[in-house]
Amino acid sequence: MSNGLEDVVAAETILSDVDGLAGRLIIRGQPLETLAGRMTYEDMLGLLWDGFFPDLPSDLSQPLAKARLDVYRAIERELPFFADRPIYDGIRALMARLPDGTELDTALLLAAAPSVLLPALVRLHTGKPPRVPDTSLGHAADMLSMLGDAAPAPARAAALDAYLVTVVDHGLNASTFAARVVASTLAGLNSSALAALGALKGPRHGGALGPVLDMLDAIGKPENAAAWIENELTSGRRLMGFGHRIYRVRDPRADALKAALDRLAQSGAVDTTRIALATHVEAAALAALARHKPGRVLATNVEFYPALLLEALGFPRETFTAIFAASRIGGWIAHAKEEAATGKLIRPQSRYVGPGPRQAA
Ligand code: ACO
Repeated sequence: MSNGLEDVVAAETILSDVDGLAGRLIIRGQPLETLAGRMTYEDMLGLLWDGFFPDLPSDLSQPLAKARLDVYRAIERELPFFADRPIYDGIRALMARLPDGTELDTALLLAAAPSVLLPALVRLHTGKPPRVPDTSLGHAADMLSMLGDAAPAPARAAALDAYLVTVVDHGLNASTFAARVVASTLAGLNSSALAALGALKGPRHGGALGPVLDMLDAIGKPENAAAWIENELTSGRRLMGFGHRIYRVRDPRADALKAALDRLAQSGAVDTTRIALATHVEAAALAALARHKPGRVLATNVEFYPALLLEALGFPRETFTAIFAASRIGGWIAHAKEEAATGKLIRPQSRYVGPGPRQAA
């Protein structure tokens, strides 16, 4: 048995390849560095979904914009009922109201849904009315427009696009595996996406983003970093934003997102003392982890820098995992389609280690 299915190959995919030793991520044959910061989320969906839908248009901008509006119209009356619920749970509940087909129209609605629901629920939480999607905007710009009070500056939309493109797909991670397990039963795309959404929520997967900011807040100043980190590690706690099941070197997505953060900072939209603190904390954490866990390379993962990026874009930290979902849903859909088309029912075995059958008295 392999605990956590470590090193088990459970699917063949044409979607993405994660090389944990080289620190390399390939998506549909292209290295991440040639995609992040260079294309929009809509184009990334087109790349990922190519070959999985017979009616896929070459440009998904307008179909995705229309889907944002359709999602909004489908759930606008129910939104207020979720104003008091945690945002992630509200998104999950409202997404469950959408269709569960396997065709392109369902895929577009699902891909659009978190990006529409998240800003609407954030606004309701703060007592503001939700804003209707603007179909003349790109996907990232519209998400920021629905969150704020106007269309965002291009640099902010570009930063969000870079994030959405960077984290869209990543091999057989826990949430993608969950999506593929459900797809292997030939359930619909919504069932797969909801399973994946549940898996992403935990702090060992997509739930570490907010706690990264909690850590930076708790440290406060660069000179506090070493002692704070030492105390965490000697108390047996984990440092959020570090370590990965596959990568034994720095996660290439951390570099792509640090670059996006630096570009956003050039437009004056980021508190540079915050970046300086994060850079210092990262160095102190890597040194401490190497000392405490010498047998295991624990490097910066994908959750460390986007926490600062998303904070600078105005998203509250309790929404960070949902923004991750707003990107990764594109990958979940592609994997679900691939699994349904090529795979077999996923049904592993367990080894029974409980008591034997009771003897009759
Ligand atoms: N801080 C301190 N110690 C750590 C960390 C960390 N961030 N990550 C792993 N370790 C230690 C473990 O305590 C364990 O030590 P031990 O062997 O002395 O008990 C050893 O490294 C191996 O840990 P595992 O849990 O077996 O490694 P796994 O591959 O399952 O862990 C995980 C991967 C869950 C991401 C882990 O590194 C972690 O918890 N990181 C912190 C949370 C985080 O950043 N999550 C986001 C992950 S990225 C993503 O999913 C999108």
